Amino acid sequence: MTMIDDVLNDIFGKAQKKPAVSDGPVMETIAGRRAIRSFTKDDVPKEALDKVIEAMRLAPSAGNLQSRFFYFVRDPEKRAQLAKAAHNQRHVADAPICIVACTDERIAQRYGQHGVDTYALMDVAAAVENGMIMAHSLGLGTCWVGSVDETEARRILDIPNHLRPVSLIPLGYSANRPKMPARKDSKDVARIVE
Ligand SMILES: Cc1cc2nc3c(=O)[nH]c(=O)nc-3n(C[C@H](O)[C@H](O)[C@H](O)COP(=O)(O)O)c2cc1C
Repeated sequence: MTMIDDVLNDIFGKAQKKPAVSDGPVMETIAGRRAIRSFTKDDVPKEALDKVIEAMRLAPSAGNLQSRFFYFVRDPEKRAQLAKAAHNQRHVADAPICIVACTDERIAQRYGQHGVDTYALMDVAAAVENGMIMAHSLGLGTCWVGSVDETEARRILDIPNHLRPVSLIPLGYSANRPKMPARKDSKDVARIVE
C-alpha cells in the first residue's frame, strides 16, 4: 500500500469509495530514486546534463531569488580532491561528474540573516532534489553528499566568498541497484489536521 492510499484511507475510510488517484509516473520516479554509491565509468551525455541543469533551474526558491549556484566538475583530479574533502567518500571521485551545490549568500542577503541561514539552504535543497529526480528519470544515479569540508571544497574550486559549498552530488550511471532503505510509516510522517 502506498502513502497516498494510506492518506486517502485516513480521509475517506477503507469502506468508502475513494476518488480515482493512481500513483502515476512521478511517484514511480520519486520512489525509484536511490542514493547511488557505485558508478560505471560511462560518461554523462551533454543532453542529459542539460536536462538535469534545467530541472534544477526550475526549482522553487524563496522570493524567486534563486540563491544558489552549481559547479559541474568533470576534472578527475578535482573530483579526487573533492572526495578527500568529503572525508574520503569514494563515490564522489568515482562518478564521472561531481556537482558542487552552493548557496549564494550575496543574493540571499536580501532577506537578511534568515535568508542566508535558512532560505538559501532551502533554495539549494529544492534544486538538488529536482536534479536528482530528473537524473533518475534519465537512467542516471546520484547521491546527496552533505558531509564535506566546505573550506576544502572552496579551496579546490576557488569558490568566491559569496558562494557556500554545502553539498556534493556525484552523478553518473549506477553500477548497482540498491534497495530502498526503510522509511517511517506514513502515520509517523504526517498528520492531517482537519
Ligand atoms: C542532507 C543529506 C546529506 C547526506 N549526506 C550523505 C553523505 O555524506 N554521504 C552519503 O553517502 N550519503 C549521504 N546522504 C544520502 C542518504 O544517506 C540517503 O539519501 C538515505 O540513506 C536514504 O537513501 P535513499 O536516498 O536511497 O532513499 C545524504 C542525504 C541527505 C538528504
